Amino acid sequence: MAVGIEKKGLVGLSKVAISDTHGEDSPYFAGWKAYDENPYDEISNPSGVIQMGLAENQVSFDLLEDYLEKQSASSNIGNKSYSFRENALFQDYHGLLSFRKAMASFMEQVRGGRAKFNPERIVITAGATAANELLTFILADPGNGLLIPTPYYPGFDRDLRWRTGVKIVPVHCDSSNNFQITQEALEAAYADAESKNIKIRGVLITNPTNPLGATIQRLALENILDFATEKNIHLVSDEIYSGSSFFSDEFVSIAEILEARNFKEAERVHIVYSLSKDLGLPGFRVGTIYSYNDNVVTTARRMSSFTLISSQTQQLLACMLSDKNFTDNYIETNRQRLRKRYQMIVGGLKKDGINCLNGNAGLFCWMNLSPFLEKPTLECELDLWKKILHEVKLNISPGSSCHCSEPGWFRVCFANMSEQTLEVALQRIQHFMGRTRRNC
Ligand SMILES: Cc1ncc(COP(=O)(O)O)c(C=O)c1O
Repeated sequence: MAVGIEKKGLVGLSKVAISDTHGEDSPYFAGWKAYDENPYDEISNPSGVIQMGLAENQVSFDLLEDYLEKQSASSNIGNKSYSFRENALFQDYHGLLSFRKAMASFMEQVRGGRAKFNPERIVITAGATAANELLTFILADPGNGLLIPTPYYPGFDRDLRWRTGVKIVPVHCDSSNNFQITQEALEAAYADAESKNIKIRGVLITNPTNPLGATIQRLALENILDFATEKNIHLVSDEIYSGSSFFSDEFVSIAEILEARNFKEAERVHIVYSLSKDLGLPGFRVGTIYSYNDNVVTTARRMSSFTLISSQTQQLLACMLSDKNFTDNYIETNRQRLRKRYQMIVGGLKKDGINCLNGNAGLFCWMNLSPFLEKPTLECELDLWKKILHEVKLNISPGSSCHCSEPGWFRVCFANMSEQTLEVALQRIQHFMGRTRRNC
């Protein structure tokens, strides 16, 4: 949550504390504030702001709640066999082996069994936020750069730059090829960094992508790995949405590419994962770094002391994730429900003459409002965003907050609300489009 800080206090603070690189003054966070001040509620505040700027997954909560209820009634959780004392004292930064095994097996399951994960390589972290920052600390020094394809998750500005002092060098992608990451774009960003004397230490991709809601094609992944190899840099793959691809076989993990290459060049590759999206548990703060590099695993484990997962949470999830019946059913049902939601929103928008990028994953769609901008500029994009926030009362994220270089695109989240609320949001867009057309 964004919190303002007074620049001129009586007592001085560190450079990190007062630096602006946290990125929290972007419209991405401003929209959340507008929602917090006037949140929509079907009964008590039907004209409030609907939050569509939050990539939360609430569509399968019933499955989790059912499971937890049955578990606490029948077995481990909450009774003596659960060994309160052992749990209360456990603080080993390796994490519980039972948890790491369950996590490795879940990561295999969401990849349809096409990649294997060794529990000994799993480093536990408090969510993907901590995992991404921790990896950045290990891979790069202050002033070095990481290449990141745009548009990207706005939180990266904070997670990768703020405390590490590392720079983000954007790899610009655009709608001319459906925002795919090309060799030319990677080379151009690399050359741009060189011209500014920024030493590039790695490339970080999100797969499936946030905010596009699309899986990265196998060939593109192969090219990115070849690029990293040629430049002798790291490749971080944030696969936090891997279990939220709508069809299991459409998601290709970098782990599969490495296996197919007999792990050649594997030691430059690191995967980030968390349960915040696929299981909808951002509050549990459960993340991992999976690195193929022994030195990175050892260092990350040491550093993870700052951001561990509580033993109680590990214990709870070790039980849940090692129950194959539950996880099989959860993964499949969750995929189906997300796919249905996606079709509902994209179909609804289409009826109003609004197109979205073809997506196949995630908790959001990438909506193209560029035909409705007065002029194709950043200012006009932000004007339209403000109208949608204050008049239509929908908080969506403007593409510029994701560093998209092409004005008019917006990220719209659809899994953090009920179907009824989504209907209300679609009706509001329909009225707005009607008004907009009449005024043209
Ligand atoms: C691509 C990406 N990485 C990391 C995160 C942070 O996730 P976590 O809640 O696990 O810290 C998010 C959350 O939106 C995300 O979209």
